Amino acid sequence: MQPNLIDFSVRGDERGYLVALEENKDVPFAIRRVYYIFGTQAGVRRGTHAHRRTRQVAVCVSGSCKFLLDDGGTRTEVQLDSRDRGLVLEPMIWHEMFDFSQDCVVLVVASDLYDESDYIRNYDEFMEEVR
Ligand code: TYD
Repeated sequence: MQPNLIDFSVRGDERGYLVALEENKDVPFAIRRVYYIFGTQAGVRRGTHAHRRTRQVAVCVSGSCKFLLDDGGTRTEVQLDSRDRGLVLEPMIWHEMFDFSQDCVVLVVASDLYDESDYIRNYDEFMEEVR
């Protein structure tokens, strides 16, 4: 599978830079939730789940980390290290995050409110549901 990456417009001038994310424009869905991940300890893997319905876009706004994406058939890895590039995480894609730099901050915009019943946290269950 190919990762779906979105290049955001950067508004820059002599003062610095700004990226704005608007729903149904810069990201391909209506945004109902924003969260961010930071202070991840070295050697840790995060994520390790899939969502049944929620769509998300992840942006590494500081530092870098890697994503493993798995659609049940193929796996791919992508490094996020750009402030102006978002990775689309569609439903039923198993994803894991690893190789976090110390200064890594990952901003995520999501199409739905947090709901634990939307998560598949067991890989065997994911493989059964994705079929
Ligand atoms: P978790 O899903 O384990 O994080 P990650 O995918 O980065 O490994 O979430 C960590 C905790 O935060 C867990 O108790 C659920 C909670 N949480 C919320 O309350 N709201 C949210 O929007 C998210 C993403 C997590």
